[in-house]
Amino acid sequence: MYNSVIIPGKNWILSLAELIAFLESRECKFKILSFSKEYFIVCFEKKIDFSIIDGLGGIIKIGEIKTTFSTDILDKAIVQKDKPSKKEIENIFADTTIIDDLISSTKKIFFGVSVYSSEKRFRKIAKVSHRFFGSIIKRKLSEHGQKSRFMGFSKDRKLPQLSHVEVLKKGLISNNAELIIGIGKNRIWVSITKAVHNPFEFQKRDVYKPIQRKIFGIPPRLAKALINLSSCNQGSSLLDPFCGVGTILQEGLLTKSKVIGVDINPWCIKSAERNLEWLSKEYELTKPEYRVLQGDIKDLSKKMGYNEIDCVATEPDLGPALRQIPTTPYANKIIIKLDKLYSIFLNETYKVLRKDGRCAFVTPYLKTRSGQIVTMNVDEKTKNIGFRRVFPFQRENFEKISSTKEEILKINSLIDTNERHKIGREIHIFQK
Ligand SMILES: C[S@@+](CC[C@H](N)C(=O)[O-])C[C@H]1O[C@@H](n2cnc3c(N)ncnc32)[C@H](O)[C@@H]1O
Repeated sequence: MYNSVIIPGKNWILSLAELIAFLESRECKFKILSFSKEYFIVCFEKKIDFSIIDGLGGIIKIGEIKTTFSTDILDKAIVQKDKPSKKEIENIFADTTIIDDLISSTKKIFFGVSVYSSEKRFRKIAKVSHRFFGSIIKRKLSEHGQKSRFMGFSKDRKLPQLSHVEVLKKGLISNNAELIIGIGKNRIWVSITKAVHNPFEFQKRDVYKPIQRKIFGIPPRLAKALINLSSCNQGSSLLDPFCGVGTILQEGLLTKSKVIGVDINPWCIKSAERNLEWLSKEYELTKPEYRVLQGDIKDLSKKMGYNEIDCVATEPDLGPALRQIPTTPYANKIIIKLDKLYSIFLNETYKVLRKDGRCAFVTPYLKTRSGQIVTMNVDEKTKNIGFRRVFPFQRENFEKISSTKEEILKINSLIDTNERHKIGREIHIFQK
């Protein structure tokens, strides 16, 4: 068994759902041992290729777990300042390969420690824990005659955590030089960072592609999450029937799927083609398979064969760009106006999707001036067509799940909002 710590992005529920869909579609056997906003502990049946992080939109770091011990020991060592417990932790570290992996040919090793705690109680002592773990490593390295420098934080840093950009810029991955300490209710997980999310690559695909569309474009990280939620994998045929300038198609091509885009707007079709051409060159893709077609969603099944598509990932029209937070009546009006388009989209998608194929799509999620949430109810439409809703979290994904955390199994759609945007997204997954 191979245990990993996985640090999610800000929208951790979406990150966890994406991770599960990604692993399942690749038939990778796993169990989630623990999950929280701060980190997930995942047990894999086989060793994983840490570069999977590049295929995930919502995962920030992946670490290989080296040891685990009871939270009580840390409690005694740090809160009660108990010397034997401090020694015990030091011995636990000595029994791992952490120090051997760190020792290098360089004169002075530069290393960092990031502490993530799912428990409020331990978040308060995260900075003390950070210094405690750092000093253990420094002392052990010195016992091996190795000089080192422990990366500290400025006082104003709220949590003692290195960002993925810091880890990348300091080159900590290749030297096994970032330690991730996950502090949970009962267990501490000690791991070495093996992969981090590369924001520069996502940024490149976002702002350096030849044609951009600021208002209606989906961020590449979310596009990636959406295609993973549709269970898209290498070789799958992936359709985006509202492809715009092709952001979702781009991420699909990088997954090595065969992508097909449709949009009513001829400018979008030309732009998507240019962007895909650019991406293929930029990423040196051998034999990229893509097709972009101009057309109205109502004619989708006339453009392609029935049951031809393996997965659909799309963001249809979300209504007009909003300058202000809408009133509740206006938000309701937006939803009603979009209703017909979504009905046609779901009907047509059902026809072209193969049996068991999945469709991950976005509907608007509007927070109104009075604080109400206005969303689109797609349950009746999808049920009448024959679609089955996929709940992102299943009991069998988890080793065991405490009663306080069981709520996650009831989640049926994923919400993505941020302060800057007036229109949030609700992501649904349906299966034919
Ligand atoms: C929210 S945008 C999608 C943006 C896209 N994900 C991107 O990153 O560029 C919705 C797209 O749906 C297209 N659209 C609107 N009505 C349509 C219809 N009836 N049939 C096909 N496409 C349509 C619009 O032209 C627009 O490009």
